[in-house]
Amino acid sequence: MTIEEKIAAMLLKAQAAKENAYAPYSKFKVGACINTIKDEFFAGCNVENAAYPLTQCAEAGAIGNMIAMNGANQITEVVIISSGDKPCVPCGACRQRIREFAQENTQVHMFSNDANTKITMTLSELLPESFGPEFLHD
Ligand code: THU
Repeated sequence: MTIEEKIAAMLLKAQAAKENAYAPYSKFKVGACINTIKDEFFAGCNVENAAYPLTQCAEAGAIGNMIAMNGANQITEVVIISSGDKPCVPCGACRQRIREFAQENTQVHMFSNDANTKITMTLSELLPESFGPEFLHD
C-alpha cells in the first residue's frame, strides 16, 4: 500500500467514525483514525456529555481503541476529519495524547468536512518542545 492509499483508507475509517459521533451539543462531529507501526488502523469519534467537560475527543477514542485492541504501539500517521469547513486541528490535550505514542515526525493529516482540503503537519510542528515518556525514564 502506498502512503496515499493508506491515508485514503484511514480517511474512510475516520469518516465512518465521524458519522457515528455523539455531538448533540456542539453539533461538531469529529472522526479520527490512527495508524500504527504494525499497519493497524484504529478509529474514534467525539463523545459529548450533558456535563460538558466530560466530552471525549475523537483522537482520545482512537487511542483508547488501539490500547484496548492491541496494546500500546507507535503511531505513524493520524487522520482527522470534522464537520467543519476548515481542516480540523487537534486540540492541545489531544496533541499531548498523540505525543505519548508518536514520534516527532509522525504525520497528522487534517481534512475539511468535504475532504477536499487537507493540511499535513508533523507532531513536532503541532507540539514543539514537548514533554513525553522519555523524560521519566532513567
Ligand atoms: N473535538 C475533537 O473530537 N477533537 C479535536 O481535536 C477538536 C475538538 C470535539 C470535542 C467536542 O465534542 C467538539 O469537537 C467541539 O469542541
